[in-house]
Amino acid sequence: MKRPIIALDFPNGQEVQTFLENFPKEESLFVKVGMELFYKEGPQVVKMLIEEGHDVFLDLKLHDIPNTVGSAMRNIASLGVKITNVHAAGGKEMMEAALKGLEEGTLTGQTRPELIAVTQLTSTSEEQMQNDQLIKVSLEESVAHYASITNESGLDGVVCSALEVEKIREATNETFICLTPGIRPAKSAVGDQKRVVTPSRAKKIGSTYIVVGRPITQSETPYESYLEIKKEWNGEK
Ligand code: C5P
Repeated sequence: MKRPIIALDFPNGQEVQTFLENFPKEESLFVKVGMELFYKEGPQVVKMLIEEGHDVFLDLKLHDIPNTVGSAMRNIASLGVKITNVHAAGGKEMMEAALKGLEEGTLTGQTRPELIAVTQLTSTSEEQMQNDQLIKVSLEESVAHYASITNESGLDGVVCSALEVEKIREATNETFICLTPGIRPAKSAVGDQKRVVTPSRAKKIGSTYIVVGRPITQSETPYESYLEIKKEWNGEK
């Protein structure tokens, strides 16, 4: 069964532990550790999650000169995470260096973490992109272009809205990973996410992974909410 990736958007490790107490000990989860938690607790929190049997998507969105990103990725790979990411805006040379760093840092007997890129952040409007980044094409074109150079750099996929999956697959290939946040089960509150889709719609559209945060982390019954979303994601309801 495919697992939705739970975004552990908590300020510290203690709150993560408290949250995880809602799940049976033997339930192996796929979780996302982002900047907030990582900059508070460091690699230790990632090691702890892996030791407890969970898979980790380390969402740090690296963007720096190729040499620095390559070296950072070597260290990230040694943590044993399953997925990590960079900004496609860093360019092909940076993405290739990131991939090489991950390959070099992967410990013997382990598989290289999947490497995906952020195209345009979903918080960026077309107007902001054109004015702030001086990119004079449509947002859709920019996203497709970034996906295409991500593919050419040998990366495994992108983070994107489920609504962009079709265009991205056209610009790349059928197996290109489309990891999609902005997922809401039909019943749940939308929060600050503007363009949301349900887990079953994401499945139909062809998302490879879905990331779900608040509908699980803020739920009064996190485990039940998780199971419901997981069922829907697997087409079981
Ligand atoms: O709580 P919610 O389900 O909205 O959380 C979604 C997670 O996915 C958050 O960690 C958020 O930072 C992340 N994310 C997103 N949109 C993107 C990229 C990442 O919502 N385009």
